[in-house]
Amino acid sequence: MSEKIVFPKDFLWGSATAAHQVEGNNIHSDWWAWEKNGGTKEASKLACDHYRRFEEDFDLIQKLNQNAHRFSIEWARIEPKEGKWDKEALKHYRKVLESLRKRKIKSFVTLFHFTLPLWFAQKGGFSQIENLKYFERYTQFLVKNLGDLVDFWLTINEPNIYVSTSYLGGLWPPQKRSLLQSIKVFINLAKAHKKAYKIIHEFKSDAKVGMAMNISTYNSFGGYFIGMIFSKLTKLLISDSFYLLTQNFHDFLGVNYYFFRNFSIRTLKMTHAVYSDLGWLIYPKGLYDVCLDLKKYHLPIYITENGIADKKDILRTEFVLNHLRWLFKAIEEGVDVKGYLHWTLMDNYEWTYGFKPRFGLVAMDPITRERKIRKSALVYAKICKANGF
Ligand code: BGC
Repeated sequence: MSEKIVFPKDFLWGSATAAHQVEGNNIHSDWWAWEKNGGTKEASKLACDHYRRFEEDFDLIQKLNQNAHRFSIEWARIEPKEGKWDKEALKHYRKVLESLRKRKIKSFVTLFHFTLPLWFAQKGGFSQIENLKYFERYTQFLVKNLGDLVDFWLTINEPNIYVSTSYLGGLWPPQKRSLLQSIKVFINLAKAHKKAYKIIHEFKSDAKVGMAMNISTYNSFGGYFIGMIFSKLTKLLISDSFYLLTQNFHDFLGVNYYFFRNFSIRTLKMTHAVYSDLGWLIYPKGLYDVCLDLKKYHLPIYITENGIADKKDILRTEFVLNHLRWLFKAIEEGVDVKGYLHWTLMDNYEWTYGFKPRFGLVAMDPITRERKIRKSALVYAKICKANGF
């Protein structure tokens, strides 16, 4: 690997968030209702209060030299009741986008990041094909009213994780445990993506539209035949299938990378294995593996999430450096990677884990909501400024 690393010209550097995890008071969503009914140990409540404090948070982003930011628009705020559009919410998101523009920060806007309007969820959400028309209408509304300010669109966040936790594992609302429903939702999400892709392009033919896919790296140590077959099948089902269902409907690939999945029959022995506060194995080379595998699609790649739960901030700096080293190696080997968005800007509401895992470049106290820049964030800020290290 080269010693001095300089990323390609115009590389985008930033961080990512999602509405429900940071905004607070997402009262018209399915998650809010579920939290109220005791679905989770800890409710999101005011989260980071980012809905009101976004200007201050964007000042932080600017201070940290980031030139790109990913966030999601909350459908439940835009359309709190079926067919009723909330003008104030729309105004808010226009302000958010203008505020990023003013700071010369490119926007990556997610349309659906795990949370839904309660009314839509009560109709069966994405499990009913006839409900896709509501998602299309919401997309149309956003494109018409905000399209002039958006740089990159991400239709759906991690359909594979959404389906496996909400429809297969029964962990997130609507807490189903059904293979049949999982397949239905997965296929409907692919249809929703394709429809949204078309709608956005009808509005602006050169729009940049993609989605954020959770892609792991797979291994079957020891060369056991069964392990190999199993890992290939799992990769096909979890990582590749959505792309296969939506081929030719991506202007770029959005990649969320966190996991190394091991299918060895033997217990994996790794020297110097490092784990996050959530017990997730840190495997930076996986980002390279994933990028190299995606080269076959001949599309630009943006890393739309990659991060670590590390409350004490003792691993994050090395985490970022090592992932970026491997990412750079992929670029050197011809993969067209154009940006890296760290997960996440500040500690937030980590779904069923509550506020405990701390993924933030900026520490956020869930009680006082005070923001404090972590040391690792300053290292990352230097990289963003120098376009390398
Ligand atoms: C999700 C984020 C989540 C992160 C860390 C990703 O799968 O898109 O919403 O916070 O993982 O758990």
